[in-house]
Amino acid sequence: MQRRQFIQTSSFALSTSPWLGNAWAQGDMPHDMNAMPGMAGMHSGGAATAAAAALAPVEAIAAGAPLAALRKLVNTSNQPRVFRATLRAAPVSLAVLQNGSPTEFWAYNNSLPGTLIEVMEGDTVEIEFINALPQPSTIHWHGLPVPPEQDGNPQDVVPAGGRRVYRFKLPLNCAGTYWYHPHPHGFTAEQVYRGLAGLFIVRAKNDPLKSIPERHLVFSDLKLGADGHIAANDMNDEMNGREGQFALVNAQRQPLLTFDAGGRERWRIWNANSARYLRLTLPGATFTLVGTDGGLLAKPVTGLTELLMTAAERMEVIVDAPKGGGKVGLVTAPVERGKMGEVPPERPITLLDVDFSAVKPERLAALPKLPGTLRRIQPLGAVKAKKRVVFSEEMSMAGGVHSMKFLVNGKNFDMQRVDFTSRINEVELWEIANDSDMDHPFHIHGTQFQVVEREVDGKVTPEPLLAWRDMVNTRSGETVRIKLVQRHKGLRMFHCHILEHENAGMMGQVNVI
Ligand code: C2O
Ligand code: CU
Ligand code: CU
Repeated sequence: MQRRQFIQTSSFALSTSPWLGNAWAQGDMPHDMNAMPGMAGMHSGGAATAAAAALAPVEAIAAGAPLAALRKLVNTSNQPRVFRATLRAAPVSLAVLQNGSPTEFWAYNNSLPGTLIEVMEGDTVEIEFINALPQPSTIHWHGLPVPPEQDGNPQDVVPAGGRRVYRFKLPLNCAGTYWYHPHPHGFTAEQVYRGLAGLFIVRAKNDPLKSIPERHLVFSDLKLGADGHIAANDMNDEMNGREGQFALVNAQRQPLLTFDAGGRERWRIWNANSARYLRLTLPGATFTLVGTDGGLLAKPVTGLTELLMTAAERMEVIVDAPKGGGKVGLVTAPVERGKMGEVPPERPITLLDVDFSAVKPERLAALPKLPGTLRRIQPLGAVKAKKRVVFSEEMSMAGGVHSMKFLVNGKNFDMQRVDFTSRINEVELWEIANDSDMDHPFHIHGTQFQVVEREVDGKVTPEPLLAWRDMVNTRSGETVRIKLVQRHKGLRMFHCHILEHENAGMMGQVNVI
């Protein structure tokens, strides 16, 4: 069934759906529903839900404050090469609205975003996790090569009020830009949108870009009701993934970045949004891409005018101050990702203002050339086994209630079912086919992968960039082929990283033997 047709024919059942109250009141339901018989009464009858769902205007959070540096998680260990600390997930009340109305977030160590963990390759990490949430939770170390039983899988939840220690030793050659977030099945989306997500950087001893001042930009989403409460998901969020009215950087709305007077910065960028893709532009400046999810590229890619990032993806870029100087907005332009329903038109959002005025023009001429080689990346070799993942969407009217199914190989996630078996240390080719109307960003746990090629309508495009990633977008109708190796035995998750889709079951598991 075509999705447009579905939305029209299913509108009666929608009236019994818990999603509707919110969606209707916010005016983001399809216009043509006004014309549907039986729908008229709902419009005026929904006063209570309308009040509950009114959203705060974007100006309700003040803009323009200096960009905050990320708070670091303090290492309490006195042993060399050991990082030890506690992360406590708990409700915390913070006043982010200008009118002082408090918002109850859920946060790690009361910090938004969650504190930055910074370690070296080869270090041992020991994190005590205290779950002071009213729900089960886990900490998943997104992108890091940690053993499965330490990776916060949905099978290994820490109950409300419980605690556990995550312990892992990071191998060499895993320097990169990672993050951590909860992964309890059915609760991940909510826990992340309430504020639970933190940052993780693994550093290499011989980093060729070490001398360049580093900047950390974490993009996240926030959707607040007019009174400051964190709004529940509406139907639109459940279908397309949640995109709040506030697009934040380091938990601030449109802060001001005062660019280093030296004229060059290295930006680590996290797209920590539940669903929003980013298409970043900085008019007058270009980006030099030097790193992806799993660390540095082999060579820098210069002259990029935009950076397209799926939800959960990370990048490292070098930014040189533009000749004109002045103040420039870092903007995200709308990304066409096949959203369903008649969603309101998207507009560019200025995420951040960058002030270059401290940079003297003579500094720019003196900037050294970047190294031509950043590190060695060995292409993964001969393929020993293949896997095929098909993402699909299905619309269901079971029991008269509307629901969307997001499927992997025609199935919904089942914790009791192992979808694939892989052999440890074997190179595998994974083919991820998107047989649906929407884009879905693919993610697999435990390892980084290399994108080999992409295929649309029989036309195959080899991937130009040799890079380590744990996120890759799949467009509607596209097939993406990647190579990967798992280095630990045990269960690994793979899923769409639009968190509402993952929550709805667009996830599978592979057992590595
Ligand atoms: Cu970011 Cu399964 O995770
Ligand atoms: Cu992950
Ligand atoms: Cu998806």
